[in-house]
Amino acid sequence: MPDALLDLNGLSAGYGETSVLENVNIGVALGEAVAVLGRNGVGKSTLLMSLLGLTTMHGGTLHYRGEDISAWPAWRRARAGLALVPQEREIFRSLTVEENLVVSAMPGNWTLERVYELFPRLEERNRNLGHQLSGGEQQMLAIGRALIGNPKVILFDEPFEGLAPVIVDQLVDAFWKLRADQGIGVVLVEQHADLALEPTDRALVLDRGREVWAGLSRDLAADGALLGTLVGLESA
Ligand SMILES: Nc1ncnc2c1ncn2[C@@H]1O[C@H](COP(=O)(O)OP(=O)(O)OP(=O)(O)O)[C@@H](O)[C@H]1O
Ligand SMILES: [Mg+2]
Repeated sequence: MPDALLDLNGLSAGYGETSVLENVNIGVALGEAVAVLGRNGVGKSTLLMSLLGLTTMHGGTLHYRGEDISAWPAWRRARAGLALVPQEREIFRSLTVEENLVVSAMPGNWTLERVYELFPRLEERNRNLGHQLSGGEQQMLAIGRALIGNPKVILFDEPFEGLAPVIVDQLVDAFWKLRADQGIGVVLVEQHADLALEPTDRALVLDRGREVWAGLSRDLAADGALLGTLVGLESA
């Protein structure tokens, strides 16, 4: 894959001695989005943490733009262009919206103006403090903060979780727009197959730390019976 950004091979990882993931593989190319599906506790967040260098790797390799970064510490991976939109959002609650964005800014295509273009709601609320935002606005801010750091790969950990359907629609719309940026790769962790499969190219399904299916998102979306049997995935 000449345009390979991330290439994870045979990953076994966990926390200290504890093993959570066994022989997991995932690849992300430039301009590509990959969904990671699976129920609660199967290891989806642990997979993202492993890409970021925040777990204990027991086996396997991780290449980033052709280079083996398996032994790189988390700070080095972040500096090289891996970014997370965390499940808990983790914005700075006592900073304003604009301050949250500005402190994360790095040179590149994604500027304050472009983030505000993607999320006009953030511009309207730019002087509000993080803790004054609704859940949906916090999620927009968490995404905007990742984008303005101009990463090469963005890892989304259940970005639509716990939000009203109308907000989910807005976020899915924004997700499609940011996918137009062909200079980045995306990993989208989700529990809802409908939400995850439509805006992604490829998918990986995990069950109890193991890969149970990998292939094209559209193939999985077209096979309701398969989806049902895999892990009884819910539809949104
Ligand atoms: N920091 C940690 N230390 C030890 N074990 C952990 C830690 N974080 C998660 N685990 C364990 O790893 C397993 C996988 O958890 P993980 O958070 O990766 O699942 P998940 O698929 O993201 O679930 P959810 O959909 O609920 O977010 C669970 O058994 C969990 O208890
Ligand atoms: Mg999780």
